Amino acid sequence: MPAMRAIAALLLPLLLVLGAIAWGATEAVQRTSRRWFERDMRARAELLVQGVREPLAGAVRRDERARLRKIVADLAREERVTATAVCDAGGAMLASTPGRPESIGCRSVRERGPGEGATPYPWSFDALGASGPVHVTAVPLSDDQGSLGFAMVLEDMAWVFRREVQTRWFLWIAFGVVSLAAAVATTLAVRVSWRSWTREIRRVLWGALPLSGAAGTPPPRPKRQFQPLLSDVRALVADLVAEQVEGRAGLWGPERLRDALAKHLPGSEVIVVANREPFAHERGPDGQLHVVHPASGLVTALEPVMEACSGTWIAHGSGAADREVVDRQARVQVPPGSPTYTLRRIWLTPEEEQGYYYGFSNEGLWPLCHQAHTRPVFRSEDWALYREVNRRFAEAVAQEARGEDPVVLVQDYHFALLPRMVRERLPRATVVTFWHIPWPGGERFGICPFGPELLEGLLGSSILGFHVQAHCNNFLESVDRALEARLDREAQSVVLGGEETLVRAYPISVDWPSRWAAGAPPVPECRAQVRRELGLAPDALVGVGVDRLDYTKGIEERLLAVERLLARFPQFQGRFTFVQLGAPSRSRIPRYQELDRSVEELAVRINGRFGVGSYRPVVLLRAHHEPPAVFRAYRAADLCYVSSLHDGMNLVAKEFVAAREDEGGVLVLSRFTGASRELSDALLVNPYDLEEASSALATALAMTRDEQRAPCGRWWRSSTSTAGRGGCWSMGGGSGSATAPGPVRHWPRCDPFTIRPPEGRPASFRPLGRTDRRRPGGAPPDRGKSPAGGLPPAGPCLT
Ligand code: F6P
Repeated sequence: MPAMRAIAALLLPLLLVLGAIAWGATEAVQRTSRRWFERDMRARAELLVQGVREPLAGAVRRDERARLRKIVADLAREERVTATAVCDAGGAMLASTPGRPESIGCRSVRERGPGEGATPYPWSFDALGASGPVHVTAVPLSDDQGSLGFAMVLEDMAWVFRREVQTRWFLWIAFGVVSLAAAVATTLAVRVSWRSWTREIRRVLWGALPLSGAAGTPPPRPKRQFQPLLSDVRALVADLVAEQVEGRAGLWGPERLRDALAKHLPGSEVIVVANREPFAHERGPDGQLHVVHPASGLVTALEPVMEACSGTWIAHGSGAADREVVDRQARVQVPPGSPTYTLRRIWLTPEEEQGYYYGFSNEGLWPLCHQAHTRPVFRSEDWALYREVNRRFAEAVAQEARGEDPVVLVQDYHFALLPRMVRERLPRATVVTFWHIPWPGGERFGICPFGPELLEGLLGSSILGFHVQAHCNNFLESVDRALEARLDREAQSVVLGGEETLVRAYPISVDWPSRWAAGAPPVPECRAQVRRELGLAPDALVGVGVDRLDYTKGIEERLLAVERLLARFPQFQGRFTFVQLGAPSRSRIPRYQELDRSVEELAVRINGRFGVGSYRPVVLLRAHHEPPAVFRAYRAADLCYVSSLHDGMNLVAKEFVAAREDEGGVLVLSRFTGASRELSDALLVNPYDLEEASSALATALAMTRDEQRAPCGRWWRSSTSTAGRGGCWSMGGGSGSATAPGPVRHWPRCDPFTIRPPEGRPASFRPLGRTDRRRPGGAPPDRGKSPAGGLPPAGPCLT
């Protein structure tokens, strides 16, 4: 079929072109042959008159009519001559044979001639005779006394037309034969080449053509014309075969990551530079040494990569017992128990930590890059220490590098100056920098007094990554405003001082399948444990939030949304508890202390307003939680609310999804996170909009298991309009494969609980009964059917 289509596609234009040529050629041949025929007829007529010129002229001069009639009658006997006539100089007819049509008279013929006073010459034209077309030739007559008039000869043209028709037929038949031959030749050529292509590609695909020379013999060369394409096909097939052989097709895991690194950057060592270390050592109250996993998205994303690729992670040694476990070069092998890479710790003085980490990084750059209404503070002393610490880390990179060309992965806003410093020390290094937080617009970035230096530092990178394209664009805009650099917006690159930096979006993610999820108890067990530990009823509804206590995370807005939920939907009072796991963070900074106080006050206020007996709607767990505890909370929850006011990505959202292998639980996610571009099936909200956020929480709590499992499931599908479609996140359905932000999906501002029955009728709709939602013991009921009093299959708010 494809061959037929290809043939048709070739033949059609070919036949059209041949047809046009045939038509053009026929026209040209006919015009030319007509001209030739007319010229011949005229020459013949002239010859005929020439042969009788003298007697004819004499008879005219003497006006011998009988003689003239005889002469014209003799002339008319010639083959194909239909009539002849003689006219005098005044245009009067002197003699004519009978076959001459009336319309062809002396005057009408004379009018077409050379005209009065002009030198006489023969002339001719076509006309319509009584029995068909004729060619009329007029030959002037004269003697030594002057002009005598002219003789006219009418010749039959029917034979000319007959010949023209024959010629046309001949030409069409000739072109028909040529077209047929061309069509057959084309069809054969296409078929033959199609077969050769197919055969050659099959040879590559099915192994007749080895992918590489077996036992030292080079693979047979494909035919020359196929070589460019087949080398591509072969490379592709080789990749696929390799993936299949290794059983890793389609999935990224440690093995594949290692292989990819070895293949694309052979021999390269990997050095990660990040402020936060992947493991901190602390001494517990019992005096025992503990390993702590810091609450850090950066660590979550990068640690599995380092485990896979080995190498060295250079970080600030911040654990109280960190010095106790390192060697003389401040190195320790990690992960503890099954080491695969080296952690090199850098010791900072309290002044350095204050100026570089708390000061410039977290009171300057952090609020500069996040739209969270906290004013950035830039102190020159902090800047000096920031520069100094960047220099110290760059020195450490140079020390740790075993070769001249390591791959240096620089992490985050703590090290904006480091890429250039590394480039100066190791010019052949590949420096890849990843900025884990948003990058502000050019105008906003312009308020940083050290902006140009920061940009120049970052442009020491080979590649500079952000979570989302919008932040790449913002970065390019900042460079455009601040530096004399060459920007290529199409290639997304900046050239500064002859060196190019590619600027790219890489939506960072979490380890999958998650090792912590694998180690956590199953969902029913987690549900039961967590409820028991918090003193909640087994069927209590639980929401969870997991964050560092940071003002960008929107924790205050989150608690306000919980308060609004309880106020708007009293049926949740006594049933719903929101558990906030808040890891203390950057607590030396006044703004963080303020946040800590305000979160505490909010929790107290809400608990005071809605708490009854032992029931507390907000449980604030302000402490560092190790990953197993966090994953247990994810699994125990009916919903997770990520309410960041501005976030580069937010890996809590992705971790929650990764934790829920049961495809249960609903993610309510701020639109202002990078993650919302990928997890577009979550309930996306504006965290500042408490009506919308509380509606989303209510809807999340009302979703059946099926609705949680299948995003936009039965209930949601019943809504046809895009605007009316909400969505839940589930692992099984709308996986986060989409990296581009889709069209803005407006989460419905109504929900089943706000739907009022028609005016004047009491609300009979009971969204959740104590026993409807969960069976005692925490086991979820079969939510395939709506329980009595549960949600109707079609949410009325969507109609
Ligand atoms: O979000 C930016 C970031 O650097 C993350 O990469 C990391 O999770 C978090 O901040 C950690 O902050 P800190 O190291 O200051 O505790």
